[in-house]
Amino acid sequence: MLSKLIQRRTLGALGSNIKAQMSSVTTAATEKPIEEGLTSEYVFDRESKYGAHNYHPLPVALERGKGVCVWDVEGRRYFDFLSAYSAVNQGHCHPKILDALKTQADKLTLTSRAFYNDVLGEYEEYITKLFNYNKVLPMNTGVESGETACKLARKWAYTVKGIPKYKAQIVFAAGNFWGRTMSAISSSTDPSSYEGFGPFMPGFKIIPYNDLPALERALQDPNVAAFMVEPIQGEAGVIVPDEGYLTGVRQLCTTHNVLFIADEVQTGLARTGKMLAVDHEDVRPDMVMLGKALSGGVYPVSAVLCDDEVMLTIKPGEHGSTYGGNPLACRIALASLEVILEEKLAENATAMGELLRAELMKCPSDIVTHVRGKGLLNAIVIKQTKDCDAWKVCLRLRDNGLLAKPTHGDTIRLAPPLTIKEDEIRESIDIIHKTLLSF
Ligand SMILES: Cc1ncc(COP(=O)(O)O)c(C=O)c1O
Repeated sequence: MLSKLIQRRTLGALGSNIKAQMSSVTTAATEKPIEEGLTSEYVFDRESKYGAHNYHPLPVALERGKGVCVWDVEGRRYFDFLSAYSAVNQGHCHPKILDALKTQADKLTLTSRAFYNDVLGEYEEYITKLFNYNKVLPMNTGVESGETACKLARKWAYTVKGIPKYKAQIVFAAGNFWGRTMSAISSSTDPSSYEGFGPFMPGFKIIPYNDLPALERALQDPNVAAFMVEPIQGEAGVIVPDEGYLTGVRQLCTTHNVLFIADEVQTGLARTGKMLAVDHEDVRPDMVMLGKALSGGVYPVSAVLCDDEVMLTIKPGEHGSTYGGNPLACRIALASLEVILEEKLAENATAMGELLRAELMKCPSDIVTHVRGKGLLNAIVIKQTKDCDAWKVCLRLRDNGLLAKPTHGDTIRLAPPLTIKEDEIRESIDIIHKTLLSF
């Protein structure tokens, strides 16, 4: 006990000098987990020393979350305006979802799909009826739902549409983001995603986003199997297409016998004010990809929904994942979907989103040049000057008690959990206004 206390003090005192002194104390530090008394500096330095440098986090070290707020290791509270990239739509540590997790964890967690389990079918029935598709294919991460959608599209192309073997093309929109696998980066137009990682996956074609004539031209190729698109581009900076775009995509895909794949991993599950963002235009894609909030942020759960004509082209042994469809994931997903419906999160996202955008419009226009979004998926664009840019604004927002992260240099996404109440959103808006006015 005493040695632990001494060790804690020593590490706390090291602060930002820790790198230089790490060698003398880290052996002890890493052998004995230190639960209390961590400083933010220690958390930053340890991650930097032992973890890959594939992220550039905002300097804040979080240890606790509840609802729309998170707390750092020094006990400071923040409004979470990132929501783990929309995975935490239901709010941090939602009691119903945690209860489902704990109860199922005591019973059965993983069987693999070598055997049946008693929860998968219940979840499959629930989610397919909720979204009105014949079938679901369960996976874990969002990017796996994209890989699954691409594989289904190619199988369908060869076995149903009749595209010559291995000639199938999948069309994507510039600015898309669907993850970090080789396929996902092969369809990316962002050099920080693909540069240095070639050779790339063949059979992908990229057209501009929100451009129906470009899609029409691309679909003249009879070997096109599918068009995969985000109804609103999230990582690109919350790019909302023109009204009618999704309707046009649906019509063109139908006319050319091409599958319309909607990537709803970020936009789905009430984030934009509807269960799916495509619901804003009442269109029904051939495939829907879901992830993130399908587990309310407690476990990786993703899914592809489609009808039998597409889903049944994949036969036993041709696709899967050890963890996909495990009973723990299914219970968590069931609870997460129920929370969205029971707590009317789509309706709240609409109302709070309108309030947020109306107030953001009042931001000084020499700092905020654009406000855009739908529901609670929103972004502001910061005018870059010598003293002010999106990163600096995020640092100062943090200092004032609100967490957000820049995307694509000058854009800050503002996407709190969908459980946010009016008084909380007003307090958050005050923080944003105060922060911007300080520049
Ligand atoms: C639209 C979209 N699709 C797919 C993904 C990939 O999800 P994951 O990071 O869970 O693999 C993301 C992640 O940000 C996303 O925004």
